Amino acid sequence: MAVVCIEFMNLCYIKQCYLSISSSILSSKMMEELVSSAFGFLIVIASIFCYSLIFKKPSKETALLPPGPRGLPILGYLPFLSTNLHHQFTELAHRYGPIYRIWLGKKLCLVINSPSLIKEVVRDQDMILANHDAPVAGLIATYGGLDIVWSPNGPYWRDMRKLFVRELLSNNNLEASYKLRKDEVRKAIRNVYTKIGTSIEIGELAFVTEFNVVLNLLWGGTIDGDKRDKVGAEFHKVATKVVDLIGKPNISDFFPVLARFDIQGIAKEMKNCLPHIDGILDNVINERMKMDSGGGEEDNRKDFLKILLELKEKNTSINLIQIKAILMDIVVGGTDTTATTVEWVMTEILRNPDVMKRVQQEITNVVGINNSVEEFHVAKRKYLYAIVKETFRLHPPLPLLVPRISSES
Ligand code: HEM
Repeated sequence: MAVVCIEFMNLCYIKQCYLSISSSILSSKMMEELVSSAFGFLIVIASIFCYSLIFKKPSKETALLPPGPRGLPILGYLPFLSTNLHHQFTELAHRYGPIYRIWLGKKLCLVINSPSLIKEVVRDQDMILANHDAPVAGLIATYGGLDIVWSPNGPYWRDMRKLFVRELLSNNNLEASYKLRKDEVRKAIRNVYTKIGTSIEIGELAFVTEFNVVLNLLWGGTIDGDKRDKVGAEFHKVATKVVDLIGKPNISDFFPVLARFDIQGIAKEMKNCLPHIDGILDNVINERMKMDSGGGEEDNRKDFLKILLELKEKNTSINLIQIKAILMDIVVGGTDTTATTVEWVMTEILRNPDVMKRVQQEITNVVGINNSVEEFHVAKRKYLYAIVKETFRLHPPLPLLVPRISSES
């Protein structure tokens, strides 16, 4: 249950969890480690497209760049990247300082690795560095970047973000959709209970639970029972593919000039997925519209789709495609990230029997032996909260975060 709450906290939390770790809860050894590797995982990348610089003689502009490791011609530093990117970037920061450059293919990236610089990027210079570097696959999946993550900083992005944070994630709406989350988490707990004595694939369990929770929030009040399971299974197949395609390193992103050849076929695969997703979303939206026009009793299971369609009625500037793009953000942004975090949290707890004992003790103290964990318990679960933050530091689910791009040179 704790995980579900973490997910739906304000996005500021997500930024903060990269920027701060609760010092009161961490042991001194952990603190030492924390200080020595400082903000090893606090890597915000400001990607700056630079299509011509690499092959030119060093100009005044390149001379002004921060230092960084040498890469190969054309490929830049790509062949030297390791699977533990955040560790590698921390090591590079020890060598080159809190800001350094690396070329990834044709992209010039600045890696920032100190709290003060991160503050400058995400707060002081946010207007210039707010845009995200959209991958080809991400743009296709979100109807050309009509969602929040990939739309450029401007009135459209501000409106969409306001709608997401103030309307969908408002306390009232989160409370109204509480039952939808609770039912799904209970189902997962029952499922685990039937498997006592056997091994469980935690990653898979976390992903399926997370996915179902998200779908429940999106349209759990719209479609029910067998129909919901059927739509869920269909959507699961295609959404997993979408998440996978967006996460795959794509040559077209590192060498935009090659994007038209789509060498790995990622754009083609994504385009094939889109009609499928679109069809599912259209069906669910039609279902909700039929329900609402039926004029029945006020539905107290207020899912996100209902909220979005109500807003559409009040505010004609939101259209159905934008609604679908936001739904995609929630599915893509909220499933794999959170499931990966849960898997690492459990892995770290299982690896550290002392930590396991303290977590169990905390559950007993806060929740009680025979009670179920509820969302309101989360605020009191300080030790678990610290574990989640520490897990973000050790195993960031998105090692490059979502790279930002500068809109000014
Ligand atoms: C462990 C879980 C998560 C991680 C690690 C994560 C990570 C991130 C990061 C690094 C960014 C970019 C922030 C920035 O550049 O300032 C971001 C943005 C975003 N995330 Fe997440 N996220 C998570 C969960 C979620 C969930 C559950 C949702 C949806 C319910 C979500 C929706 C979004 C949206 C809409 C944005 C764009 C915000 C904006 O443009 O201001 N994320 N996320």
